[in-house]
Amino acid sequence: MKKEKSMYVCKECGYKSIKWMGKCPNCGEWGSLEEEVEVTVANKKIPKGSLSFQEIDEKLVSFDEIKMEENFRYKTKVKEFDRLLGGGLVQGEVILLTGNPGIGKSTLLLQMANEYTEYGDIIYISGEESLSQIKSRGDRLGIKNKNLYLMSETNVDKIYEYISERKPKVVIIDSIQTLYSETSDSIAGTPTQIREATLKIVDVAKKNNICFFIVGHITKDGKVAGPKMLEHMVDAVFTFEGEEGLFYRILRSEKNRFGSTNELAIFSMEEDGLREIQNSSEYFISERNEKNIGSMIVPVLEGTKVFLLEIQTLITEGNPIGIPKRVVQGFDKNRIQILMAIGEKRMGINLGTKDVFVNIPGGISIKDPAADLGALISLMSVYKNVEISQKIAAIGELGLRGEIRKVFFIDKRLRELEKLGFKGVYIPEANRKEVEKKDYKLKLIYLKNLDEFLERI
Ligand code: TYD
Ligand code: MG
Repeated sequence: MKKEKSMYVCKECGYKSIKWMGKCPNCGEWGSLEEEVEVTVANKKIPKGSLSFQEIDEKLVSFDEIKMEENFRYKTKVKEFDRLLGGGLVQGEVILLTGNPGIGKSTLLLQMANEYTEYGDIIYISGEESLSQIKSRGDRLGIKNKNLYLMSETNVDKIYEYISERKPKVVIIDSIQTLYSETSDSIAGTPTQIREATLKIVDVAKKNNICFFIVGHITKDGKVAGPKMLEHMVDAVFTFEGEEGLFYRILRSEKNRFGSTNELAIFSMEEDGLREIQNSSEYFISERNEKNIGSMIVPVLEGTKVFLLEIQTLITEGNPIGIPKRVVQGFDKNRIQILMAIGEKRMGINLGTKDVFVNIPGGISIKDPAADLGALISLMSVYKNVEISQKIAAIGELGLRGEIRKVFFIDKRLRELEKLGFKGVYIPEANRKEVEKKDYKLKLIYLKNLDEFLERI
């Protein structure tokens, strides 16, 4: 017997309640509870003893006997995109792409759809734009391709049937919020509908080994609009970001079943579509003088790739009786507070009521602790008004005693600096053994602690 039960589910934290409330008692968010209809099948019993010994034997496979399946990956000419996917698109993979309106999601996916036609038929399904609108975007991108099919459809049940029948290699859904299923009463875009539609897409993808890219809109505070579990239902979640007025776009992998997370790739939005930027370090650290005050280059690891970033610091007088400002962009604010405390104790940097501004240009946010030393040198340079050569970089995590701790992937970081013509780099003494015998075109300056650094400048 089927029973329908109405529940209110918080779209922020997933909290369930039988009655509607203005504020979620679990996460405290206002207006986040939305109605969902749960269908439960009551009194359904699983018959005992229905499995034969033979069936059980087939279910249990010895660890040693399991053979690894080679994942076949679809590749494109856009190397950075393939790298983000972990080396290409895996058959049956479902990827959610989110980002602000106008950032370039439809452009990116139309370009990629065109690339994947090398493997067979690709279908681009849009509920957002008319076929002629998509065609005119395609013309602008220089696309001419008879294996690329467009379809204007919002009924997910029809899409399900059509895709199961036609079996294309890759399908683009633009966007999940426009889809609706006849099996649910609510309107398109509600959490119930988004969940229904995603379930159906994941099902058709896995049953037929078809890849899907799903566009998902985000709310004002940057979260995927729809139920929280949307992100759990798909194999990968990519976000597309960029600052208004800038041509650069950052594609990031937030979740990645067949690759690594926090991987990022940079694109530029041109007149004729998106172009990958392979040498992204040049993008982040261009236009610089020989020597600078308050600026230091750090090689940081994002996912599996090293990026060279510039940490900039500015100190101003501030209000002597007010609370000093600590404005931090692109770096963890708490981390900067800790570094300022270390700077005060170990380097005599007395900031008092002064205002401090820390910025990483390029719209990127870093978490890599190896940037600690560079951030502190940048701060010290403004405070003591000393110029720093921009041909020297810094790598090292800092401890509270002022000790410089070992970092991971040191070789990768040094190779990137070498490639971009750096002359030297401060690195932790603790990394010496790993790199000493290798041949770098860089002067390696080993440091145990901040005292050793101060002796050198
Ligand atoms: P779009 O892909 O429609 O964004 P989304 O799907 O994320 O909403 O991109 C829209 C913007 O990109 C629009 O402002 C125009 C710009 N654009 C270019 O600059 N060059 C191009 O070749 C294309 C197709 C779009
Ligand atoms: Mg779009």
